[in-house]
Amino acid sequence: MSEYALEIKDLSHRFGDYPVLDKINLKVWPGQIVAIVGPSGCGKSTLLKAILGTHPPTEGTVLADGEPVTGPTRNVGIVYQHYALFDFLNAEQNVAFGLKLDQTSLFDRTVLYPRYRRIRKKHLQDSRDFLRRVGLEQACGKYPSEMSGGMKQRVALAQAFILKPKVVLLDEPFGALDEAMREELQFMLLRFYQENLEMKRAGKRPQYTILIVTHELNEAIFVADRVIGMSRFHTEGDLGATIVYDKPCPVFHPDDPRDYSKFVEQREELRRAVFDDEYIKDRNKYVTFTSDLGKLAEGQSMAPLPKISTANSPNH
Ligand SMILES: Nc1ncnc2c1ncn2[C@@H]1O[C@H](COP(=O)(O)OP(=O)(O)OP(=O)(O)O)[C@@H](O)[C@H]1O
Ligand SMILES: [Mg+2]
Repeated sequence: MSEYALEIKDLSHRFGDYPVLDKINLKVWPGQIVAIVGPSGCGKSTLLKAILGTHPPTEGTVLADGEPVTGPTRNVGIVYQHYALFDFLNAEQNVAFGLKLDQTSLFDRTVLYPRYRRIRKKHLQDSRDFLRRVGLEQACGKYPSEMSGGMKQRVALAQAFILKPKVVLLDEPFGALDEAMREELQFMLLRFYQENLEMKRAGKRPQYTILIVTHELNEAIFVADRVIGMSRFHTEGDLGATIVYDKPCPVFHPDDPRDYSKFVEQREELRRAVFDDEYIKDRNKYVTFTSDLGKLAEGQSMAPLPKISTANSPNH
């Protein structure tokens, strides 16, 4: 297993003559929730498609858990703004559907029918367990037409996570939801992060590694442990967008009050770095994630905190 859940090396992309992405480099540790923000059209979805493997980049490489992504792979999952559920399957069946395709063949489902029934039962049990984790234990038997937008989106998330991909990409996943639903799903991500922390404390690899694209700067800082900003204005020429902001952000516990005032300063800094069309002369000014780690407390990041040398400390 690789140290990184995701590694992007010198990734550039152009559509014809039009440069969209310029030398993106990024390393994400297992268990991180990384928010990506940037002006509309700067290439966020293009980057996610390259990571997903459906649209390979013009240049550069993507590694998911150390394995090169050259096409769609079970290492990477995605959830879009508009959930794609099967209307004729209930919540439990929708979530189990991916497992069915993944773990049984047509031969299993016909010739080896008794064995298949046992596997199927296990899949439905796993599906119910996962639906409980996203707060939908009451809705296992509901069909999409009987669910709210937020419920459908949680089923879609369960569908992606149950296959245990190394990275899950969320492209504006809450964009179509009303404010209350959106908040509910944000808290769900905070709960996932707490599960990650528990796994890490137990010496295990955290389960949920997430890249979430959002237009909402508050949402980005609230749900993530790291925020990345993309902009085209990092150079005088027009080469495409790159990462111009990369910093850790405060980790909220689901029981904490939702206090945006705690990160007003960071939000304003992010806005300036990413949405200001004055070109940034020092493109690394706000790309300080790794060096900022030293300032964080335990439990504030899934990235390994630097070891503090005690050799020269006065108490040694
Ligand atoms: N298939 C395509 N062919 C040509 N150009 C494309 C294609 N897909 C995207 N583009 C262009 O690439 C640029 C980046 O698009 P992309 O969808 O990645 O932006 P985005 O950051 O996700 O925007 P938004 O926030 O609006 O979703 C845009 O200028 C878009 O017009
Ligand atoms: Mg997009």
